[in-house]
Amino acid sequence: MHQTSDLLNQSTPARACLPPSSRWPLAGFPVGKPSAALSFFRSFIQDPVSVGAFCPSSAALSRRIVDSCDFSSSSTVVELGPGTGAFTTSILERLSTGSRFIAVEIDPRSISLLRRRRLTGCEIIHGSAEDLPRFLNGNHADCIISGLAWGNMSPQTQNRLMDVIQCSLAPGGQFVAFAYLHARWLPSSRHFRRRLARSFNCVESSPVVWRNLPPAYVYRCRLSHTAA
Ligand SMILES: C[S@@+](CC[C@H](N)C(=O)[O-])C[C@H]1O[C@@H](n2cnc3c(N)ncnc32)[C@H](O)[C@@H]1O
Repeated sequence: MHQTSDLLNQSTPARACLPPSSRWPLAGFPVGKPSAALSFFRSFIQDPVSVGAFCPSSAALSRRIVDSCDFSSSSTVVELGPGTGAFTTSILERLSTGSRFIAVEIDPRSISLLRRRRLTGCEIIHGSAEDLPRFLNGNHADCIISGLAWGNMSPQTQNRLMDVIQCSLAPGGQFVAFAYLHARWLPSSRHFRRRLARSFNCVESSPVVWRNLPPAYVYRCRLSHTAA
């Protein structure tokens, strides 16, 4: 049975802060070091469709993402499309001890920046999210966090990726993704919402995170514990 709710916790307090080295203000939004923002912008110029935004996500969206995940029951966590690592550092701060954490990014520039950051505890994989089952070596993930720009994808690409995500999740697994507010009524975003409702037993969406360029919100989805 599918259950859809419009609200996550309205005012979840921040339980962890990004380290000082990852907070640099850009137009009032902490989005990582200037070098990361510049690298992200260059990737956007080179492949605007796949990158989908001109600057990395803010600390506020990153906090909303990790607040939406239950890390206590997650021994394998995956991040798809980490970009320059806006969510990655926050995920690392919340991971349970002994968890495996892999981040899969397709853009070579972001990959070299992520590798230079030496994020201990995170396996950084250069490849496509579509190959996730291969990167998991036959194992399943308890939590998949998406940094992908779903609104820029065709329905066919969304379906291919969602098939991969669904079959990579363990029973009871969580899927957390963000979407941009301005794209909410585009056909691609509507298709994504319908696909989430079809694929998961529970789909919730958060209030808008205004402190992000552009403003965004977060979907929190769960498979049933009896799902195959
Ligand atoms: C909207 S950006 C978000 C980056 C980062 N998560 C953030 O919030 O700042 C989308 C990211 O997904 C990556 N990406 C796009 N398609 C991908 C794919 N098929 N597999 C892995 N990464 C992908 C892009 O290169 C880009 O870094």
